[in-house]
Amino acid sequence: MDSFHLQWVAVLISIITLSEACHPADWKGLTSFKSGISIDTSGRLAKWVGQNCCDWEGVRCHNITGRVKEINLPGFISTADLPFQSEMRGFISPSITLLNAVEIIDLGGLLGLGGTIPSFIGLRLHNLRKLYLYGNKLRGPLPESIGKLLKLEELAVHDNRLSGSLPAILGSLKTLHSLLLYGNRFSGAIPDSFADLTNLVQMDLHSNSLVGHIPDRIGQLQTLKELDLSNNFLSGKIPLSLNNLPGLSVLYLDNNKLEGPIPFASVSGKISSSLAFLRLNDNRLSGPIPQSFGELVCLKRVSLSNNKLEGTIPSSLGRLSSLSELYLDRNRFSGQIPKSLGQLSQLILLNLSHNFIKGPLPEMSSLQNIQTIDLSYNLLNLSSIPQWLSKLPSLSKIYLAGCGIHGQIPEFLRTTPSPIQELDLSHNHLTDKIPEWIGCLTQLYSLKLSENSLISQIPNSITNLQDLGVLDLHSNKLTGNIQQIFKISHRFPDDSLTYIDLSDNRFSWDFYQTDIGQQPGIQFLNLSNNNLKGRLPTSIGTLRSIQTLDLSRNNLGFDLPETIVNAKQLETLKLQRNHFTGRIPKGFLNLRKLKELDLSNNLLVGEIPPGKPLSDFPRSAYMGNKGLCGKPLNPC
Ligand SMILES: *[C@@H]1O[C@H](CO)[C@@H](O)[C@H](O)[C@H]1NC(C)=O
Ligand SMILES: *[C@@H]1O[C@H](CO)[C@@H](O)[C@H](O)[C@H]1NC(C)=O
Ligand SMILES: *[C@@H]1O[C@H](CO)[C@@H](O)[C@H](O)[C@H]1NC(C)=O
Ligand SMILES: *[C@@H]1O[C@H](CO)[C@@H](O)[C@H](O)[C@H]1NC(C)=O
Repeated sequence: MDSFHLQWVAVLISIITLSEACHPADWKGLTSFKSGISIDTSGRLAKWVGQNCCDWEGVRCHNITGRVKEINLPGFISTADLPFQSEMRGFISPSITLLNAVEIIDLGGLLGLGGTIPSFIGLRLHNLRKLYLYGNKLRGPLPESIGKLLKLEELAVHDNRLSGSLPAILGSLKTLHSLLLYGNRFSGAIPDSFADLTNLVQMDLHSNSLVGHIPDRIGQLQTLKELDLSNNFLSGKIPLSLNNLPGLSVLYLDNNKLEGPIPFASVSGKISSSLAFLRLNDNRLSGPIPQSFGELVCLKRVSLSNNKLEGTIPSSLGRLSSLSELYLDRNRFSGQIPKSLGQLSQLILLNLSHNFIKGPLPEMSSLQNIQTIDLSYNLLNLSSIPQWLSKLPSLSKIYLAGCGIHGQIPEFLRTTPSPIQELDLSHNHLTDKIPEWIGCLTQLYSLKLSENSLISQIPNSITNLQDLGVLDLHSNKLTGNIQQIFKISHRFPDDSLTYIDLSDNRFSWDFYQTDIGQQPGIQFLNLSNNNLKGRLPTSIGTLRSIQTLDLSRNNLGFDLPETIVNAKQLETLKLQRNHFTGRIPKGFLNLRKLKELDLSNNLLVGEIPPGKPLSDFPRSAYMGNKGLCGKPLNPC
């Protein structure tokens, strides 16, 4: 082409692009936004070229006015092939407020997106209906002016903490601390003006650093269906006005510093015909559960755990016929469990543990759907496991620790309608043997019988428990060898025992004869305070996941095996009060994650291999040996 024709083409292109240019304010707003972003791993912004911003990926314009209506650039992209988590680093340019016709802004889950929400957002974006800025690194206060966005239906600015970048910083605790200190999240109070958002359906502010009170006027948000303020530092009382919300279905206020009573008292509010999911756990709420709580008849899941609630559990709870999960654990409830709880035929999970509830236990044999029951650590003094429990058709997870149960482990547990998966009878007065039939509970995943007076060997049948992941038998009077436990072959090759506590018993076994390498997934192994003899098996090095190893207070001896250094995940290693001899293997210097070490009261000699982490432990970690020297002890 000659130069005349080239010029002609250039003119033509500029005419076309001019005629197809988007509104200058929109173009400016979007290009400013783009220039605030230094990295966009999705590559979407790189394609934002030319004048017609309506054609750009993630941008949609109104078909009549031509103004930008939507910005859809979520971090999580699900394509036909693979879902993809993208990241944008940079900050939100305040010029985004030039897009004054925009209705939807979705910049959620971009992980690295920082900066603040422009304070004048509410004075400009009058048409905004949805604002998603969750899962980023935004910080600063939530602007008061958001209260002027009267068309706003959804506000999701939750989880502006460390979000996606977490794995990267986990390696270095120091960074974690400084990031937390500098507060990578929204702070300040929830502006009172938010109560003016009369079209709001969903407000999600969870997992930020918000402080102050929940605005009293929140009850004005008559269209609100979901309110999630959990995981902040909110204080004060829960506003009574929440009772006036006629359509509120989800209310999550857990993990704050809220105090005072549960507000659904005396006033029989409009909320009762809609509230289904309620979480008030991990606060400082006090007083009783009001009788009127039983009017919240739509409730499906309720957690009031870990507060200072007291008084008896009201019988009106028996009216909550849709209830499927009820968590009342870690409070100060007293009195007896009302018989009416037994009517909750939809109930799947009941946790009443860690209260002051007294017996006798009412017979609740109508709990047809209950799968998990936890009554541990109350004042129940059950004497024996109630037999009706073993007849509940769906029950498979039974937690009755510290319930004053005497005698043998009853055989009716062998033939429950739903095979037992989790059984916790710790801290009772069980005597006699661990029954041989325990090996028939082939779906057992977790078995806890610690702090009883069981005397027996571990039955051989335990090797049949192909799903066993957690075994806690500590503080009994168990004897014999421990080998069977490491012989369990799991149903699936990737499964393994992860938690084993056999400490504080009378096992007397030559540990060297045990091949512990058959359970490579062990994370926690405590065999402390037994009578184990011999050397440490070299297979100890095959425990690639082990974080805690406690073999203290046994009769183990000989040199420490070099292979132990292959257990690279070790954080806690306790070998004190044995008869280990020889030098500390140099390889210990490779145990980079070690935070706790105790080698005291053995027969170790020679120089402590110089360097971290060994030099960082206190002298007490090495005291009482035959001839150790070097940092932190005296020079050799
Ligand atoms: C413009 O958009 C509206 C609503 O999105 C739609 O109902 C209408 O059919 C569209 N008009 C044209 C000409 O595409
Ligand atoms: C019940 O609550 C206690 C205390 O909060 C907790 O430790 C336990 O794991 C819960 N039980 C079940 C079965 O979830
Ligand atoms: C527990 O129950 C047993 C038998 O029912 C009774 O003898 C005992 O006094 C009770 N203990 C307490 C502390 O209430
Ligand atoms: C191991 O068990 C003993 C006795 O039960 C206990 O004192 C010790 O703290 C446990 N070790 C670890 C690391 O948890």
